[in-house]
Amino acid sequence: EKAGYDHFMLKEIYEQPKAYRDTMMGRVSDDGKTVTLKEIGMTTEQIKAIRKVHIVACGTAFHAGLVGKTIIENLARIPVETDVASEYRYRSPIITPDTLVIVVSQSGETADTLAALREAKRNGARVLAVTNVVGSSVAREADDVIITQAGPEIAVASTKAYTSQLIAFSLFGLYLAEVLGTKDGAWVAEVIDAMHQLPEQVEAILAQANVLKQVAESISKHDNLFFIGRGVDFAVAQEGSLKLKEISYIHSEAYAAGELKHGTLALIEEGIPVIAVITQEDLYEKTLSNIKEVKARGAHVLAIVNEGMEHEVAKSVDETFVIPKTLQVLAPALSVVPLQLIAYYASLARGNDVDKPRNLAKSVTVE
Ligand code: M6R
Repeated sequence: EKAGYDHFMLKEIYEQPKAYRDTMMGRVSDDGKTVTLKEIGMTTEQIKAIRKVHIVACGTAFHAGLVGKTIIENLARIPVETDVASEYRYRSPIITPDTLVIVVSQSGETADTLAALREAKRNGARVLAVTNVVGSSVAREADDVIITQAGPEIAVASTKAYTSQLIAFSLFGLYLAEVLGTKDGAWVAEVIDAMHQLPEQVEAILAQANVLKQVAESISKHDNLFFIGRGVDFAVAQEGSLKLKEISYIHSEAYAAGELKHGTLALIEEGIPVIAVITQEDLYEKTLSNIKEVKARGAHVLAIVNEGMEHEVAKSVDETFVIPKTLQVLAPALSVVPLQLIAYYASLARGNDVDKPRNLAKSVTVE
């Protein structure tokens, strides 16, 4: 059932192009100009009445929510807060009937996420669930459900579910933009077109897995490393760091690139690997100056950079891995893929049980 792959995780990484296509299928008009989310029961009036959005989830699903925040704020101009589900209920969040609470859960059975959903409903908010499992608890209890069409995810480390969640957020963001009129039709069509190109672009990244295997093998000899980025690149850095920790058992931290000098820079020493995610044209010069800070202290820097910026970035780093060009808002759907492969190969190099990492369960049904 691993279809010739050594591990479910690798199989699921390679299933991402299909997962992207399947998650978009039936949700874009035939002419490719508009998003149609028939599963959303909210009326235009209800959507117009949304004053704020809370995105609540755990682990990797939370990291998808961090990207979702940027997508919704940029596309629909509605303020979004993000919380990990285990914190949400206990901070007395201000949930009002004009709050849309979005819970994100691959399994739809995560106890903290389900509890957050119930708390939101008790306070009169409308709840939208983004989940991969039809008929799951989260799907049954939410008001609206967007099913990610990733197919079953077996490996404990989530990969295709995460990227499908990013696609779902993009679709929902576009849908809100259409209803609210926050973006013009030409722009929406441009994003949809760029989304259609993502599966092939992921394939182009997967074709370079060997390069990432080598990177991972050298990383596997270290006990500490850092991921840095700004904006959505920071969100992706957090996901890359979690993925690496959970299956390779190498300690890593994800940092907002500009925040390093406020303390963490003290940990940078000769030879430490730093993976920098740089996909946002308007931010790359800033991230480059942070890269210079770590380089000056002896760090070995790999930049995950998008096409077009690689020559400029290459001057300041030790290695670059180039991802195909896409719109800034969609970049996480590509930039995370090399990080998934690095985590996979680092785990493999360390001889770990890739699909069933120690101490972890696929579905966390206790709080
Ligand atoms: O099923 P869920 O999406 O609710 O699961 C949430 C987390 O437990 C999950 O994403 C976890 O962080 C993964 N093992 C990460 O790879």
